[in-house]
Amino acid sequence: MTVLPGQAAAATGDAAAPADPAALVDPLVLAAAWLPSAEDGPGPTMTLSTVGLDGYPDARTVLLSRFDGERLHFHTDARSRKAAELAALARAAVTLVWPEAARQLVVVGDVAPVTDAEARAAYAARTRYLQVLAWVNDREAAERDPEHRRRAWADFTASRGGAALDPPSTWAGYALTPRRMVFWRGAVDAASHRTAYERGPDGSWSQESWPG
Ligand SMILES: Cc1cc2nc3c(=O)[nH]c(=O)nc-3n(C[C@H](O)[C@H](O)[C@H](O)COP(=O)(O)O)c2cc1C
Repeated sequence: MTVLPGQAAAATGDAAAPADPAALVDPLVLAAAWLPSAEDGPGPTMTLSTVGLDGYPDARTVLLSRFDGERLHFHTDARSRKAAELAALARAAVTLVWPEAARQLVVVGDVAPVTDAEARAAYAARTRYLQVLAWVNDREAAERDPEHRRRAWADFTASRGGAALDPPSTWAGYALTPRRMVFWRGAVDAASHRTAYERGPDGSWSQESWPG
């Protein structure tokens, strides 16, 4: 089955397993129903998987900065391993899990830097702790003892007082454009079930049901 961009979505909410399996579903609309809105601020966490420079998979947890209806945004340090890996191959997968709701969403796609304005807005939406972290969390600090890191943190926060912080030059934002989206739904009285969507060259989505 194929869903063309802009075609009316069949459902929202828990529509990964629609009552009518032939229903046309836009996976971006489904994702919007599962993910918090941009106004809710950063989160939830997700596992960001990249291809390591050695060819092996690499993975770590990051915050979903926001879902803009088309792309999933995340932010990091431009000096990080993931930034180097994305510079070498701008592809990634993110895995989001809500065990209490028996849901998992895996999104695979292409990654591109966000605009400066988007990066600044995401920084402003971070907690003060995470804003400071972006300034002081460098390799030099990592190689020192915990007492040194505490002093460096205290010195930085004392030097800035309560002033609003701008993002450091190392603040880097990315957005993942989905190519494949797999919605997993668990059940206590039936087999778990996945609905997998793949985007074709013309932008249309094909939809399949997968076990597991
Ligand atoms: C709950 C949680 C949330 C995190 N959020 C972020 C994040 O939004 N951005 C980020 O760069 N690192 C975040 N981290 C740290 C990353 O998991 C990782 O250690 C760091 O980014 C370095 O990864 P890399 O060396 O693979 O680039 C988070 C860690 C945890 C445990």
